[in-house]
Amino acid sequence: MYVYLLTAVKAGIYIRIRKQFYFNSDSLQNFENFKLFNMIFDYFEYILKNKINLIHTIFIGFTIIIVVNGSLINLMEPLLPVFIRQSFRYGKHKHIGSKDALVSMIEIPKSWFSHFYVFAFSWALWALYLVLKGIIMHTTAPDYVIQFLDLVGGGTEARKVLIDSNTALIAAVLMTLQCARRFYETNFVQIFSKKSKINLSHYIVGYLHYFGAILALLLNTEGFVKGSMPSTFSFRKITLFQYACLFLFHFSWSQQYKSNMILVNLRKDAKTGKVETEKHLLPTGGFFNIVSSPHMLFEVLMYAALLGIMANSFTWKLIVIWVCSNQLMNALLTHKWYKENFKNYPKHRKALIPFIL
Ligand SMILES: NC(=O)c1ccc[n+]([C@@H]2O[C@H](COP(=O)([O-])OP(=O)(O)OC[C@H]3O[C@@H](n4cnc5c(N)ncnc54)[C@H](OP(=O)(O)O)[C@@H]3O)[C@@H](O)[C@H]2O)c1
Repeated sequence: MYVYLLTAVKAGIYIRIRKQFYFNSDSLQNFENFKLFNMIFDYFEYILKNKINLIHTIFIGFTIIIVVNGSLINLMEPLLPVFIRQSFRYGKHKHIGSKDALVSMIEIPKSWFSHFYVFAFSWALWALYLVLKGIIMHTTAPDYVIQFLDLVGGGTEARKVLIDSNTALIAAVLMTLQCARRFYETNFVQIFSKKSKINLSHYIVGYLHYFGAILALLLNTEGFVKGSMPSTFSFRKITLFQYACLFLFHFSWSQQYKSNMILVNLRKDAKTGKVETEKHLLPTGGFFNIVSSPHMLFEVLMYAALLGIMANSFTWKLIVIWVCSNQLMNALLTHKWYKENFKNYPKHRKALIPFIL
């Protein structure tokens, strides 16, 4: 059905653009637009015809890119072309030296991190609302939601129920709490330096990450799969293992906040609370005493806790692999940066995993 719909939309746009060509035949821009539309539609047509799970594709693709590029950067950086080094590194461990003109053009302020938490928080609230509504009113998700999930989840037949409503509600509450806290931190508390930059690709990945991770809460959930109904919520349905994961999530959530506050306070005057510097200083205290990036360690643990809660979700397994690879590569570069920039950097401090790595 989607393939037919797509072909109809494509035909409509084709006719429109051909009409413009007719009246304005020397418009190269129109021709370029047409080529672009064609490429986008062909891509979607391919995905639909072959029942490709877009969410899985996103996270597998991200993991491959981060593992390949991250390993190359960590192991043989001097041999790599500047454009790879400059586009991969960001923030305090940004690329130093000659710059690639094209990559420099698509660098944006790191403070734009705050934008995708606006999106993530709203998207998570919407998912939570849908799960809650399904449970309270005992109704399936609206048709447009089921159709959209079919579209991004590899088609109707590919989507099976793997997550019960009880589990989905707990996971949606936890994800919303995380997005809400990050929204608050990045928009109201965190002190970004004006010089810190990220690449446009990091920015797009940020949006796609939350787009996919929040949809993953619904993809295989009762009431969101054609022909299934949501079940009732009860605390008694929560297993002992899920309670243990809830505890792990709560611990990691609060420790990530504490770690982020340590970074914020480094730039403030302890007495007046005024921002004194935008420099990157040596953090101490809390879990910073044993790892260089505790906020990244707790990010991994929060996603692992969510996987423990939604143990049956294959999509969430892919998400955890992606988050682990991403945070590990970033933590290794951060650790190297600290060691290069602070002669007195504590020797026993590891990059991400206490006492190990
Ligand atoms: N789920 C995922 O896949 C994913 C991906 C990326 C990030 N994240 C999470 O997002 C959060 C932020 O990531 P990030 O890469 O931006 O972390 P980050 O580089 O450590 O920066 C966090 C904040 O602390 C500041 N900061 C960092 N080191 C500092 C130092 N030594 N002295 C003073 N201030 C310092 C930064 O300032 P500047 O802006 O000036 O550098 C920034 O405002 C982390 O919790 C991470 O786990 C998650």
